[in-house]
Amino acid sequence: MENLKIDGARLWGSLMEMAQIGATEKGGVNRLALTDLDRDSRDLFTRWCEAAGCTVSFDAVGNMFARRPGRNNDLPPVMTGSHLDSQPTGGKFDGAYGVLAGLEVVRSLNDADFETEAPVEVVVWTNEEGSRFAPAMVGSGVFAGEFELEDAWAKTDGDGLTFGAELERIGYKGEGCGDRPATAYFEAHIEQGPILEDEEKTIGIVSGAQGQRWYEITLIGRESHAGPTPMAVRRDALVGAASIVTAVNRIGHDFQPGACATVGMLESKPNSRNVIPGEVFLTVDFRHPSDATLAEMNDALRAASEEAAKANTLELGFNQIWSCPATVFNPDCVNAVRKGAEIGGYTHMDIVSGAGHDAIYMAKVSPTGMIFVPCEDGISHNEIENATPEDIAAGCQVLLHAILDRAGGN
Ligand code: GLV
Ligand code: MN
Ligand code: MN
Repeated sequence: MENLKIDGARLWGSLMEMAQIGATEKGGVNRLALTDLDRDSRDLFTRWCEAAGCTVSFDAVGNMFARRPGRNNDLPPVMTGSHLDSQPTGGKFDGAYGVLAGLEVVRSLNDADFETEAPVEVVVWTNEEGSRFAPAMVGSGVFAGEFELEDAWAKTDGDGLTFGAELERIGYKGEGCGDRPATAYFEAHIEQGPILEDEEKTIGIVSGAQGQRWYEITLIGRESHAGPTPMAVRRDALVGAASIVTAVNRIGHDFQPGACATVGMLESKPNSRNVIPGEVFLTVDFRHPSDATLAEMNDALRAASEEAAKANTLELGFNQIWSCPATVFNPDCVNAVRKGAEIGGYTHMDIVSGAGHDAIYMAKVSPTGMIFVPCEDGISHNEIENATPEDIAAGCQVLLHAILDRAGGN
């Protein structure tokens, strides 16, 4: 079992082929959830999995399951996977790596004629990024019972199209969701931060993930002419927003170590150069390993938002639209990853995930672990996101051993 090897060149080739779907000029991908390109990536995944002897099914939220039978098919499968949707200016590895590493494990087991005791399933979770339909991790969230199916279907994108209608349109709306126990779940992912590279380690043994909260803030003032309106009587929504943006950044710095605070989206209306902005919509993303600190950051944001509205005579809409508590992964799964790193002889360290992952919701319903590999300069959510073929292969090799540790066989 310890001699089994994945094929790094084949995995790299599949990653590069998948990256053609939605490829951008700067070398990344734009494959937003439930678009035609998302469908194309699912179709390709299906073809590859069927060629590898798997049976592919999907559920009511579009999560896909490619099943390789085991010796005892009454056992719950060991699941592994990630997502195929991307940010609008995303990279080739975020998500696709975890999915295709799972497929590479299946292909390698086939090559070695290795029969696992429990079945193995490679999963594609729907709308992990939360970029087109907020929040993130919707498919795994419905699967784990964190979100209602109807609420997921009702989510709208910026053009008012619904998740449910788009899922149906691309042909991936199946039946039922959840109620599908797993022996364990493992997810391989690039780290998306600089720690492994800085520490010169190949494998991150992920012990858990920090908590996060997402907000939507609206400020309403009064549109008026940029020339005749005296400064003293303006109700400029963008000036209020500017002080919230600054406050968010300050809160991030105030709650070190560990806090991250970002305004990622800001829409000013009417966005015309000689009109005082009458309305601004902005989003806030807060993260911290401690839920108690996130609560303090929440209070600081609310106070700063109220202050900004008052100072500029604006109406404030303040909405926390999502919160996901800090997660600790299952010790047996974390150990399976550690053993995998040791079998492979890779340098490794324990690490806490800064990013959100489907594994966080899977951890609520199944023993779960994650494997990180370094990415160049720690850059992700960027078209230039990059990783080395060697590190990509190493993470997949560890994934193989972690899966075998839980699935048994031969
Ligand atoms: C998901 O990509 C996240 O925002 O962490
Ligand atoms: Mn991801
Ligand atoms: Mn991402």
